[in-house]
Amino acid sequence: MSLTNDFILSPSLLSSDFSRLAEELAALESAGLSWVHWDVMDGRFVPNITFGPPVIKACRKESSLFFDVHLMIEEPGRFIGEFVDAGADLICVHAEAETHLERTVSLIAQSGVKAAVSLNPHTPLETIRYLLPQLSMVLIMSVNPGFGGQSFIPFTLDKVRDLRAMIDDADTDTRIQMDGGVTLENAPTLVAAGADILVSGSAFFGHPPYADRHSAFQQAVTR
Ligand code: DX5
Ligand code: ZN
Repeated sequence: MSLTNDFILSPSLLSSDFSRLAEELAALESAGLSWVHWDVMDGRFVPNITFGPPVIKACRKESSLFFDVHLMIEEPGRFIGEFVDAGADLICVHAEAETHLERTVSLIAQSGVKAAVSLNPHTPLETIRYLLPQLSMVLIMSVNPGFGGQSFIPFTLDKVRDLRAMIDDADTDTRIQMDGGVTLENAPTLVAAGADILVSGSAFFGHPPYADRHSAFQQAVTR
């Protein structure tokens, strides 16, 4: 089954109130969001540590949102079983963190979870060309991962345009996600360049009420 073709906003919990995660998830759901983005960090691949499978699993019982799990961890293949068991709907691994990327992508897909690969800003698209038929989504990082609230790196926009052309050429159902420095102001340009799914942390959670912020993003990209 493919992901929807509609524009999706995936709020990053990195900017949410960690002491009230279940309430934040409920608030997103009642605000009409369908996805939520989990930024898992290990203190090795990125210089920051967040949460892991036990926290996601505990929250899974509290939410029916689509759990978009972004693994910023070294050798993510070691933990796919744990994240599948925790209730991830999509697992995104970094190409730079995995030597045997095809094996890890196959493992995710065989587990019945959507498989995605993320590329750091400087990582060439060529890395994932031959994996596109297996990928539900490619994540183009528009900041160096590790922290919320950073500024968008402009050249990543060209990368999205090139990826859109590569996907059209390969004729696959792969969706394009952008993550990092997304704002209400740059969202229309990112979608026009070919992004289908935008992650937003600080530009979303810093601006309640969530239903209004969600509508503002929707309106900005459909103008
Ligand atoms: C960065 C994370 C992003 C981050 C986005 O390492 O992968 O998901 O939370 O935050 P903003 O939208 O504030 O740049
Ligand atoms: Zn992320």
